[in-house]
Amino acid sequence: MKRIDKLDVLIGEKQVGTLAETKDGLAAFQYSDQWLSAGYALNPFSLPLAKKVFLPNYDPFEGIFGVFADSLPDGWGRLLVDRYLKKTLKVNVDEISNFYRLTFVSDAGMGALSYQPSQMLESHVMPYDYDTIALECKKLLEQDTVGNLDELFLLGGSSGGARPKILTEIDSESWIIKFPSSYDDLDIGLQEYEYSLCAKACGLEMSETRLFASKECAGYFGTKRFDRRQTSSGKQRIHMVSLSGMLETSHRIPNMDYNQLMRLTMLLTNDMREVEKMFSFMCFNVFAHNRDDHSKNVSFLYDEQQQRWKMAPVYDLTYSNSIGGEHATTIDGEGKRPGMENILSVAKKAAMDCKRAKIRAAEIRDIVRECLGKYLG
Ligand SMILES: Nc1ncnc2c1ncn2[C@@H]1O[C@H](COP(=O)(O)OP(=O)(O)OP(=O)(O)O)[C@@H](O)[C@H]1O
Ligand SMILES: [Mg+2]
Repeated sequence: MKRIDKLDVLIGEKQVGTLAETKDGLAAFQYSDQWLSAGYALNPFSLPLAKKVFLPNYDPFEGIFGVFADSLPDGWGRLLVDRYLKKTLKVNVDEISNFYRLTFVSDAGMGALSYQPSQMLESHVMPYDYDTIALECKKLLEQDTVGNLDELFLLGGSSGGARPKILTEIDSESWIIKFPSSYDDLDIGLQEYEYSLCAKACGLEMSETRLFASKECAGYFGTKRFDRRQTSSGKQRIHMVSLSGMLETSHRIPNMDYNQLMRLTMLLTNDMREVEKMFSFMCFNVFAHNRDDHSKNVSFLYDEQQQRWKMAPVYDLTYSNSIGGEHATTIDGEGKRPGMENILSVAKKAAMDCKRAKIRAAEIRDIVRECLGKYLG
């Protein structure tokens, strides 16, 4: 196992800072002088732009700050990385730190951050059709290893979220394509696509989505990545931080309420329009029964040109439940049976115009009922 105890953190060509592993296995972070003079805070709460050494707690991200934890694959991507490390590098994955995991990210992680030096292995991916990839993903979930682990690893080893997925380029744009997990119905792709169309009809900001054809099921859901932008000078990487990363809290613990999300959005963006976007997202989740609204299913983007934070376009919208069938993020304290009353209470506490909030919530409710009625029963 190669020993690396220092990592440069970069955005594009610019050095943001350095991570160094302490004797206790914590990844201390320091901004570079160059970044201090012309950059921005990676996280204005836990990593404000200041000349000092920042030391994370061990919990909740095993000794790294949330913004760096966001660069690591989780769920499906982590499963691929772990199988790959075990099989190819003979690494005992139970003994490695999250800092060590960052040494495999290089520039393949979600969001803008990249890490150097890296021990990412170079290889070439065979061009597969989506049905073959879906089948290989299914096999990998059912058994310990498959013949083309290397290809699956290269296609999806950097991704976040539980479902099998690949990160791919289509017409020079970066896309995520998702495949059914072992607990999903085969029409999950179609469902997520219909949910995305409905969210757009409700006026929620969402990236372009597509249903990719399949001979095996109703289709695979794909979404254009909003943390990458094709520009005339190449691909721009956009700094993205999940709610979990922003608040240094694990998405596996359902400890959030939309009252907090609204307050955080105001603190971060100082823009009532962003707060209203969060409100619309909450309304959609309530009415469309998207209860898996955990803290990695909401993110914020930093707009370098405008020098400000914004709520990221919404994503991962499906008919879903969280622990005990409740919302992972409660609506003014209610997770099981949230209704208009709870929604309006959140609006009031966020100092929204209550009359407008009521009209907006009713509008979203009606569109959702019309578009997604077949899923909602
Ligand atoms: N359009 C997009 N652009 C950029 N990043 C995205 C986009 N859609 C999703 N992501 C990122 O990829 C991660 C995984 O995507 P998604 O949440 O859709 O997958 P999932 O496997 O269904 O997740 P979960 O584990 O919540 O069920 C998200 O947490 C988010 O960070
Ligand atoms: Mg998700």
